[in-house]
This record gives sequence, C-alpha cells and structure tokens, in this order.
Amino acid sequence: MKRLIFIVMAVIFAVTLVGCKPVSQAPEQTEAPAAEETHLDKIKEAGKIVVGTSADYAPFEYVDETGTMMGFDVELMTEIAKRMGVTLEWSDMPFDSLIAAVQGGKIDASIASFNYDEERDKSVDFTEAYYTSEDAYVVLDSFKDEIAKPEDIAKYKIGAQSGTTQDGWITDNLVGAGLLDEANYSRYERVDQAALDLQAGRIEVLMAEYLPAQAIVSKYGGMKIIYHGILSTGPLNIVVPEGDVALAGEMNRIIKELKDEGFIDTLAVKYFSE
Ligand code: ARG
Repeated sequence: MKRLIFIVMAVIFAVTLVGCKPVSQAPEQTEAPAAEETHLDKIKEAGKIVVGTSADYAPFEYVDETGTMMGFDVELMTEIAKRMGVTLEWSDMPFDSLIAAVQGGKIDASIASFNYDEERDKSVDFTEAYYTSEDAYVVLDSFKDEIAKPEDIAKYKIGAQSGTTQDGWITDNLVGAGLLDEANYSRYERVDQAALDLQAGRIEVLMAEYLPAQAIVSKYGGMKIIYHGILSTGPLNIVVPEGDVALAGEMNRIIKELKDEGFIDTLAVKYFSE
C-alpha cells in the first residue's frame, strides 16, 4: 500500500513539474513549430469582428432615424459575421481614414462600398467582389448644360468625397490633366457635406456613386443626375489587412455561399429598387 501511495505521489509530482514548464520556453529543436495563430483565429477566439465603415452612403451604409446602422453593406456584413460565428461591432469613421485603420490594425476589416484600386492594394487586400457600382454626377435642377463627355464638367465647381475613387478620378483626369483648377475642386470628409454645398450653390457638380447619388437626389430634392457610367468604380470588395489570406479566404467562402443562395440578389432588391 505504501508503495502504491509512493508511486501515485511520484506521478502527481512529475505531472505537476511538466505543468510548470514555463510557457515562454523555446520549443526543442526536434519539435515541429506550432502553427502560428492567424488574425482569423484571433477574431474567432475573441468572438467578435470590428468592421469599419463610413455611414454616410445610403443605400450602402447609413444610420436611420433611430440611430441604427442600415444598408446593403451593413446587412451583408452582418450575415458574413453571423456565418463566421462572431458578433459584429461597427466603427464609423471618415471614409479616408478606413484604409489606414485596417492597415494599422485599429479595425479588422472594412466594408464601405470600396472599389479595388491599385494604390490601395499596396497597403491592404481585397476580397472577391460582392457587387458592382457606377459613378454619377449630381447637379441642381437649374443646371441647364448638356454633358457630352465626362470631362465636360471641368468648367464647373466640383465636389467629391475625400479619398474615394471619384476623388482620384477628378484629381487625375481633370485637375492633373490641367482641365480643372484646384481652386474649383472641393474634397469633403462626408458625402452629406458635399450634398449640402451643392444645395447651397457652393459647388455645381457632385461626383459620387450612382446609387448614393440617387439617394441624395431623393433626400434633398431640387437635384438631378446628368450622367452615370463607370469612370472610377466597378466591382465592390471588402477590405482586409495586407496578406491576410485566412480572413480573406473565410470571407470569400461566405460571399460565394451568399451569391449562390441568392442572398445578395435579395438584398439588392431590398435596397436598390425603389
Ligand atoms: N466606391 C468609392 C471608393 O471606393 C466610394 C466609396 C465611398 N463610401 C462611403 N461609404 N462613403 O472609393
């Protein structure tokens, strides 16, 4: 009996010793290195994904009268988070801060009607496309000129949201091409500020995406769209950190599922057909 107790004690002692092995101790040479924890693993462990957006862009992302986040992107992201098995926390910020916030790890990802863009691709990555969009020009009803080609707006005072592909298009094709004087171009942190300036006559043309442009026209009244087509836009993608293959892969898998199930088409009908 004494012998048995001794053996049991010895085993307990040995197990305790192993258990006390410092965690920071480097693995022995012969051990295979433990697979590194991915950003996706961390999100799943935390049970939460923090997603940034710029909620000034109905019907993609906006805040309704009750203060609730709404829109096509918002519902899409909610479903993606649900299928990832995590809760979703929104972080609303100016559009031109989103890429840096993803890059700096302040947010896990961003959905904000983002188009793929080579410049952005240097610092972040993009998922597969989930929808496509067009650009548009919004003017006041009193605007009488006919626009034969997109560059023809260069003779007017123009506004666009800072850091967007529209901003990039105007900067490169109008300002950079010497057609538009920098003094006649205003960049806005939020699209609503540009819409208010259009209403007040401080700018004459607002360039934004077609569906948000339509939403502005119906919200403010006295405005119309004089042009729409693809200048700076196209496929829409979610932004993830640079090289984050695991998170992009997980989102791509779910985006495909949602396309196959018709979930995205149903959302488009809900938000894009008035
Ligand atoms: N699609 C444009 C871009 O990628 C504009 C997006 C603006 N989004 C917003 N939520 N305000 O730059």
